[in-house]
Amino acid sequence: MLDHLKETDRGTPKRESTREVTLQIDGNEVTVPGGTSLMRAAVDAGIQVPKLCATDSLEPFGSCRLCLVEIEGRKGFPASCTTPAEAGMKVSTQTPRLQELRKGVMELYISDHPLDCLTCSANGNCELQDMAGVTGLRNVRYGFDGANHLQSRKDESNPYFTYDPAKCIVCNRCVRACEETQGTFALTISGRGFESRVSPGQDEAFMDSECVSCGACVEACPTATLQEKSVIWLGQPEHSVITTCAYCGVGCGFKAEMKGNEVVRMVPWKDGKANEGHSCVKGRFAWGYATHQDRMLKPMIREKITDPWREVSWEVALNHAAGEFKRLQGKYGKDSIGGITSSRCTNEETYLVQKLVRAAFGNNNVDTCARVCHSPTGYGLGQTLGTSAGTQTFKSVEKADVIMVIGANPTDGHPVFASRMKKRLRQGAKLIVIDPRRIDLVKSPHVRAEHHLQLKPGTNVAVVTAMAHVIVTEGLVAEDYVAERCDPKSFGEWREFVARPENSPEAMAVATGVPPDALRAAARLYANAGNGAIYYGLGVTEHSQGSTMVMGIANLAMATGNVGREGVGINPLRGQNNVQGSCDMGSFPHELPGYRHVSDSSTRATFEAAWGVEISPEPGLRIPNMFDAALSGSFKGLYCEGEDIVQSDPNTQHVAEAMMAMECVVVQDLFLNETAKYAHVFLPGSSFLEKDGTFTNAERRISRVRRVMPPLAGYADWEVTVKLAQALGYPMDYATPEAVMDEIAALTPSFSGVSYKRLDELGSIQWPCNAAAPEGTPTMHIDKFVRGKGRFIITQYVATDEKVTRRFPLLLTTGRILSQYNVGAQTRRTPNNQWHGEDRLEIHPHDAEERGIKDDDWVGIHSRAGETVLRASVSERMQPGVVYTTFHFPESGANVITTDNSDWATNCPEYKVTAVQVMPVMQPSAWQREYSRFNRVQQELLEARRDASESMAAK
Ligand code: SF4
Ligand code: SF4
Ligand code: SF4
Ligand code: FES
Repeated sequence: MLDHLKETDRGTPKRESTREVTLQIDGNEVTVPGGTSLMRAAVDAGIQVPKLCATDSLEPFGSCRLCLVEIEGRKGFPASCTTPAEAGMKVSTQTPRLQELRKGVMELYISDHPLDCLTCSANGNCELQDMAGVTGLRNVRYGFDGANHLQSRKDESNPYFTYDPAKCIVCNRCVRACEETQGTFALTISGRGFESRVSPGQDEAFMDSECVSCGACVEACPTATLQEKSVIWLGQPEHSVITTCAYCGVGCGFKAEMKGNEVVRMVPWKDGKANEGHSCVKGRFAWGYATHQDRMLKPMIREKITDPWREVSWEVALNHAAGEFKRLQGKYGKDSIGGITSSRCTNEETYLVQKLVRAAFGNNNVDTCARVCHSPTGYGLGQTLGTSAGTQTFKSVEKADVIMVIGANPTDGHPVFASRMKKRLRQGAKLIVIDPRRIDLVKSPHVRAEHHLQLKPGTNVAVVTAMAHVIVTEGLVAEDYVAERCDPKSFGEWREFVARPENSPEAMAVATGVPPDALRAAARLYANAGNGAIYYGLGVTEHSQGSTMVMGIANLAMATGNVGREGVGINPLRGQNNVQGSCDMGSFPHELPGYRHVSDSSTRATFEAAWGVEISPEPGLRIPNMFDAALSGSFKGLYCEGEDIVQSDPNTQHVAEAMMAMECVVVQDLFLNETAKYAHVFLPGSSFLEKDGTFTNAERRISRVRRVMPPLAGYADWEVTVKLAQALGYPMDYATPEAVMDEIAALTPSFSGVSYKRLDELGSIQWPCNAAAPEGTPTMHIDKFVRGKGRFIITQYVATDEKVTRRFPLLLTTGRILSQYNVGAQTRRTPNNQWHGEDRLEIHPHDAEERGIKDDDWVGIHSRAGETVLRASVSERMQPGVVYTTFHFPESGANVITTDNSDWATNCPEYKVTAVQVMPVMQPSAWQREYSRFNRVQQELLEARRDASESMAAK
């Protein structure tokens, strides 16, 4: 084993118990919680018992018989992994008899195992090899001529790992990992006795089975049977660095295992509190984009978007960008430029972008992609509870009795959290799903939703208000909790409002399509839960009433007393890795870091003193306002870091026209993304592997991102922003991102206790972290709400303007798939495409048949905003009248058809409701043909740049 990479495996999971037992192991006294295995107790006493089928992430199984021990006064040789420690026991782990038994076990294993240790990919990191050494096995009496599995065929179907049955010792760890850790139940042991082998699905290849490629089985495997292909190609890693996944808002901790500057594999970090050693296919395997050949590594400029790019030095590019911004402000005024930052950036980067805009541009025209996803969460929770964030840790789900999932698809969007949730559901917690589509959670192995309220898109507020009606009119309000903790006036008004007959499930059913009995039963189940926890996603926020729905959820949780302890709460599942952080860092045009309004003079004074500038008291432009202002001629320049607005924002044609109306668009990114095709300056970005910083996940958990390789283009993103500020004449001077975090902590009360030193000590910290909570705040609103008394808000259901008509009779809603991430810029550049290589339109069989549509047919999707063409997947997941697509591929044009409608409070686009017609077609849409042409031209302009540089090099 490579000791510097090895973490101690305690053999069996930790037990929580107030009862302690003291025993002796090999003469050493040790005290452990009741229920702890002898194997784990031995590790506590500093003794490693040999083992193969046990590992501390899985319940013990007791099959390999290698961990036998002797217990004074007892007959036989019990397995230490399955035997609980008892008070007064005297245990021996090493005796001549045990040694002999273990050697015999190992002999049997090795007699059916290839003896190719020297050339095996696991050489140096194989538990079977270790155990052969530990047990002192020197020869195998049985020979290798008998029946064996040495000629078994490998399964290479998965792009990231191989399965070599010849090396399998049938320890069952993989099967248990798939069941216990991941909850997919894709693996079984098929056959009996000598014939038994691990089998995905019904003796299928991994890629044809239910396997979702989370890699838990690969990690659990003690041999090279299940092995990462990257390890097979590159060899065993030499050193490791702890960092944080750059994909979704779960924020999994990883050990990047390296050879020099090359990543060999990403191993989920056992001590990562968001993931506790688990991961999904994206974080564990889909990191190859970071070194993909499409990475843009040289700064580039051009006058017009029809010109070829010119590669230039960093200095020239930054001076050019700064010069253009100054020219535009001189000609069109101070407010004619702005910046957009991304939830994929670190906290430090986002902080610097908003500082650049406020201090160097001199306005508040800064926004972030959270505008188009969770801005209603910030507004809604801020209004009701007093803080714009989720209330719990992910671990809290282990104490939930009823889990309500609204407008979220955790198994695809937040897979590691979904595995935790499924574990709790298998233990008996009840599940309510509120979603127009039959997501996997509704029915999957050993999980079944008690109620699936399959509402029509756009009617969330009607459903939540009707649930409140049931709770109020059936006497299910937690009266004592409300009386003690909530504002009586707003509660009284809300109670009277929701109790009105027009808010009953029966009255709302026409709009929602939800059977009243089902809605009433779900409301009762949640209200009587004991611990009721709500998890929600973009299916809540991306609506014209997104903020209203968030407030409706908060009303429901407060009325039933489900906020302020473990197992309950309101939990927004944030889409991207740093949505929470980008909001916290003041990247909205109306807020300085820590959610403090720019109109507040004392907050401004704090920042003005620190930054040495005057800050405008006027909120700046939001992203959609920037586009409108660009089209009306008053907004002329944009600095866009890490965000692909042309692909991700609604009504693509409108966004593209706005881009073309600007005189200087500066894009900082890894790839020449869709937005960069409209840019005049391109600044190469750096991946999460190339920089230091922090991300804040959906639990408010701040975790370190650590550089494992130098920035491929020379500078990390934070350095580029600093240099741009300097080129603009504003002095920014930081030696490291740590210095940026120190400034954030000094200026932001909820971050005042955060520093890299504390993060290194504690592993991660959930804000608020300050003098009152020096180790952070896992659960919020414990004794009282942050705003004081919880405030109920009336949630009047207002139907969206986006109505179905004879011309547009179907409602389109959108979502994500497990293997792809957001605009796909990263995951499309990995083998994840093998699972999902195109966006498709899911349509109910009835709607498909009416239109003569079959699986795989090309279909045109028309909305009031535009038209695009996708292939159809006929699916009963959909309800009749509703169609669905993902949005991971630019050529799909999913946002060509989404409209300009948006949330009344925050402008978050109404991605989830678009009235459409769907018809069979024979060719791509006009937009797609124009996209292909424009894309081809832009690729040629990029190639011309390459040719130019190559010919210059040749001279
Ligand atoms: S990769 Fe994950 S889902 Fe697939 S078999 Fe292994 S544990 Fe199960
Ligand atoms: S594949 Fe690995 S983990 Fe699974 S039974 Fe075989 S040796 Fe054990
Ligand atoms: S669940 Fe999210 S954070 Fe965790 S590995 Fe997957 S993509 Fe990364
Ligand atoms: S490790 Fe205990 S029986 Fe295998």
